[in-house]
Amino acid sequence: MVFSWLSSWLPVSLHRLWLWSTALVLALGLLQLTRLLARRQKLLRALDSFPGPPIHWFFGHAKEIEEGGGLDKMISWANTYPSAHPLWFGRFVGFLNIYDPDYAKAVYSRGDPKAWDIYSFFLPWIGKGLLVLDGPKWFQHRKLLTPAFHNEVLKSYVSLFAESTHAMLEKWKEKVCVNTCVEIFNDMGFMALDSLMKCIFGKTHKGQTQSGTDYYLASTNLALMMQERIQTFYYHNDFLYWLTPHGRNFLRACKIAHDHTDKVIRERKAALKGEELEKIQKKRHLDFLDILLGVKDENKTNLSDMDLRAEVDTFMFEGHDTTTTSISWFLYCMALYPEHQRLCRKEIQEILQGRDTFQWEDLAKMTYLTYCIKESFRLYPTVPQVYRQLSKPVTFTDGRSLPEGSLVSLHIYALHRNPTVWTDPEVFDPQRFTPENSSGRHPFAFMPFSAGPRNFIGQQFAMTEMKVVTALCLLHFEFSPSPTQPPIKQLQLVLRSKNGIHLHLKRLT
Ligand code: HEM
Repeated sequence: MVFSWLSSWLPVSLHRLWLWSTALVLALGLLQLTRLLARRQKLLRALDSFPGPPIHWFFGHAKEIEEGGGLDKMISWANTYPSAHPLWFGRFVGFLNIYDPDYAKAVYSRGDPKAWDIYSFFLPWIGKGLLVLDGPKWFQHRKLLTPAFHNEVLKSYVSLFAESTHAMLEKWKEKVCVNTCVEIFNDMGFMALDSLMKCIFGKTHKGQTQSGTDYYLASTNLALMMQERIQTFYYHNDFLYWLTPHGRNFLRACKIAHDHTDKVIRERKAALKGEELEKIQKKRHLDFLDILLGVKDENKTNLSDMDLRAEVDTFMFEGHDTTTTSISWFLYCMALYPEHQRLCRKEIQEILQGRDTFQWEDLAKMTYLTYCIKESFRLYPTVPQVYRQLSKPVTFTDGRSLPEGSLVSLHIYALHRNPTVWTDPEVFDPQRFTPENSSGRHPFAFMPFSAGPRNFIGQQFAMTEMKVVTALCLLHFEFSPSPTQPPIKQLQLVLRSKNGIHLHLKRLT
């Protein structure tokens, strides 16, 4: 009796359940679509006064960028549409892409939050660290973490950078006979990871070899996958993305990175046993992790475990690919322009007077090298594009404006090649950065580290590392370009080369 009642009831009930679920999914889908369409309309209206390249109804500009060589396409658009133009990734995510210093100043001097449409993709990997945080919590963390980049801390890193560079140079010396072509980007990646791990965790990743480099591979792949996600608009939806093999690979790589960070934090906490920073400092130099574990807010509370991991992962993410890329493109510039390479080497030899080790004080004397580093940052900016979401309306100097909530992309690559700002922008000319030539320049014309309150917190750290590594490379090797394998520029959050960076190396010592 009960059974027959149940069997007659179940199908009807399941059927109803199915109908209700379908109706609910459809309603939610419709709601989401309406929301997206309304948002598209709002963005279209906001960008109305900015002419730009035609928008494909489905892909926006994403496909054209991919097919048109990415950065070159952007330059051709920047040359056609003065100051700024709309840029669409798919149908629903549209930015005002800017490359004019006055436009950059209007937005980047204010400290608007990061554009969540893009930066939320970083969350599964780096969590809510300094790069993506906003509001009072960002301000508090920025204040707490600033001491990690003080000169006193940086001084102790000079020998660490030199040690990692020497290990890479030894590898090159083994590879190079007379004049050998070497793909430098990969070796530079291992070197940069090695030195960053020493600065952050106080340890290396096993001698810059392939073994023990799961973390290195995971973080490299994560950067690549994030850029693909940004440019592939149907990956923008979390639900759809996690269903794809791409999304699942992303989560796997995140897990490798997190397991590594968690382990290091656990081990360090156990080793420190709550010891105060001052006491540790008497025994050895402090690394980032010591400083992070030691910081206390106004209520004398340490960072939570989650915040701690987010900051460590942020430093590892921000600090690794960026330095690898910057140094590799710099050496590429030196290879292309041998007269500047010679002048840099001469300056370094004169400063060192036969020494093979650096002192902190030596770095300030490397004037010509600094000009060349800046010029390579201009032509090959490490982070070519950064994004913001306006927290209030902005009016630009030409009277055009954008309402609150609009998305803005600063195209640093196009800004640095803007012919209204830079004479002969394609020419490598370090003299642009002498004090006389820099004095009249717009403060927002050169932005390799972004600018304003949300700029890069550790510029001094990056410049210190760049000077030590590049000076040692130039001291030990002469670089010339490979005519058969020129680099192919590719935007992967940072400016990479699709085919690596191949240079001819001639041993000098
Ligand atoms: C040459 C190397 C580097 C370059 C060119 C560079 C460039 C940048 C740029 C352009 C930003 C702004 C990003 C945005 O607005 O979305 C930024 C932010 C940041 N960078 Fe770097 N970076 C470099 C190296 C590093 C290193 C070595 C670290 C850490 C060890 C680091 C940590 C950070 C952090 C934490 C932020 C977020 C700052 C904030 O929002 O308050 N960067 N960097």
